[in-house]
Amino acid sequence: MLAFLGWGTMALVGLQGIVAFLFFFWPRKTSTFGSRISVGTANDFQLNEVRYFVQGKFYLVRLQEGFMALYQKCPHVGCTVPWRADFQFNDKAGWFRCPCHGSTYDRTGQIVFGPAPRPMDYMRMSSEGGRLFVDTGAIRRRDAWDPAQAFKA
Ligand code: FES
Repeated sequence: MLAFLGWGTMALVGLQGIVAFLFFFWPRKTSTFGSRISVGTANDFQLNEVRYFVQGKFYLVRLQEGFMALYQKCPHVGCTVPWRADFQFNDKAGWFRCPCHGSTYDRTGQIVFGPAPRPMDYMRMSSEGGRLFVDTGAIRRRDAWDPAQAFKA
């Protein structure tokens, strides 16, 4: 009987060690690409502001119609598209412009010229208790900009 208790205790201690090990080393997806990322409240953003969230690989844009979370990956062949506040086109400054082949997009992610076959992809957004979230695992394709794509906070 005592031997059984001894082995049982040792097994329990071993099991606790395994659980602690797994808990410590198990990858937790927080604020990384693929997870749902908190970006603040609507009032944290100015109208027409473009803010880059490097860990989520997206730009959050506040438009008249709402918010767009634009995936940084160019729909042409996948280069990272930077926001170019300095780039001038059509008497306006501020465009997304791909450095690889020159695809250029407006603040909505709509392609205005270049070889990309469609607008920049965008990510699903939600709100909870006044906070905005971007689901970087939910990337959507589209054929054209539509105001219905913007998230109304
Ligand atoms: S990868 Fe962006 S234009 Fe070609």
